[in-house]
Amino acid sequence: MKISIFGLGYVGCVSAACFSADGHTVVGVDVNLSKVEIINAGQSPIVEPNLDVLIANSVANGQLRATASVRDAVLSTDLSFICVGTPSASNGSLDLQYIERVSSEIGNILRDKQQYHTVVYRSTMLPGSVENVVLPILEKNSGKLAGTDFGLVFNPEFLREGTAIMDFRDPPSTVVGEWTAKCGESVVELYSNLSAPMVRTNLSTAEMVKYADNAFHGLKIAFGNEIGTLCHQVNVDSQQLMQIFCLDTKLNISPVYLKPGNAFGGSCLPKDLRAISHLAHTFDVAVPVLDGILISNEKHKKRVLDLVVAQGKKNIGVLGLSFKEDTDDLRESSTVELLERLIGRGFKVCIYDRNVSLARLTGANKLFIEQELPHIATLMVDSVEAVLEKSEVIVVSNRSNEFLKISKLMNPSQKIIDLIRLFAPEDFIDGQYFSVVG
Ligand SMILES: NC(=O)c1ccc[n+]([C@@H]2O[C@H](COP(=O)([O-])OP(=O)(O)OC[C@H]3O[C@@H](n4cnc5c(N)ncnc54)[C@H](O)[C@@H]3O)[C@@H](O)[C@H]2O)c1
Repeated sequence: MKISIFGLGYVGCVSAACFSADGHTVVGVDVNLSKVEIINAGQSPIVEPNLDVLIANSVANGQLRATASVRDAVLSTDLSFICVGTPSASNGSLDLQYIERVSSEIGNILRDKQQYHTVVYRSTMLPGSVENVVLPILEKNSGKLAGTDFGLVFNPEFLREGTAIMDFRDPPSTVVGEWTAKCGESVVELYSNLSAPMVRTNLSTAEMVKYADNAFHGLKIAFGNEIGTLCHQVNVDSQQLMQIFCLDTKLNISPVYLKPGNAFGGSCLPKDLRAISHLAHTFDVAVPVLDGILISNEKHKKRVLDLVVAQGKKNIGVLGLSFKEDTDDLRESSTVELLERLIGRGFKVCIYDRNVSLARLTGANKLFIEQELPHIATLMVDSVEAVLEKSEVIVVSNRSNEFLKISKLMNPSQKIIDLIRLFAPEDFIDGQYFSVVG
């Protein structure tokens, strides 16, 4: 394919070198003339292992050249990759001035181009940036319609400096965020040589993925450093500890606990987080990440409460009471807390949880509910249907196949707050389905 790459920094140079080495004809574009000259001299403007060799070869065999001319680049290629910088502004917001400038320049040239051209953004941008900032600029300057007259794609870059070529050639996945399905076709074809899973999605999801990735990378490092600092205080070898930690690919390094939904609770997580934060404070070790976990969980519980209150209905039914499915354990259940707050505010509540139904409870849990939560015990009913009969809003807080029937049984005036994404939102009529997470 014929590809132009705007912005010859780390991302742009690596993309230009790899695409050209794969046999594509690549034109690099930069406003920095010295970068253009360096590339045309067959050299790399950045330090990155093996990049100089790839660039030298591609320039020598005519697969790669650089220019400062947007017109030359857009008219001589079918796809333009945008890899310009998106730095932080002084208040921490994202500075899109380079994106805006390059988009308006490309838009101006698209006005004169007869053939379909696809513009692919690789620069990291907040969700909504391509649709709300880039698309209007491209359409205004070109006088054309995105999707119909030109392609618009967001394709996040996952490379790490230092191993950039390896990462480019062997990414964990390839994400193509497309304005319309037609927009992404040439990009999908371009990456067809990669074995990584190909994900086609909308623009905002593709933009957001990059932020979720980088937030998680930062979180992992900060978490590791806080745990390591605590290890130091208690004479534990942090490297060995983390090796043991990483052996757990069932719960630790795994998709488990990465399903946005309800707040956590139970007999272990809150208690153990309190204990480890307390331990750190006894050593005067600041652990804002560990401290922040319970604070974040409390905020999430508040969001759930606010969502229930915002429905403006008095009769609330709750499906699932224990701290998670398939247990009768109520200790620090976030649903019990929600109920107590609702009851305290005068809501009428009824609850169904097969595992917690009084008739089935024995031993410690029976005693716990009778002594600690007698008021909640009196609100329990014995079927999903009984909850539906009494409630204007139904909160689903645990996963159970038994609850699935409510989407068929609910009447149009009843609302559902699905805390665990048990249902597909589209199974309900407009204004009936609510969730605290997207
Ligand atoms: N560096 C990384 O490891 C990495 C990894 C993934 C994603 N990203 C993202 O990719 C984007 C680029 O990052 P980078 O580190 O390669 O940036 P960089 O600052 O190294 O390079 C940006 C280049 O864009 C050029 N430029 C600015 N305006 C231009 C215009 N109108 N036309 C042509 N060129 C123009 C600049 O002169 C510069 O050479 C950023 O959004 C960044 O967040 C970076």
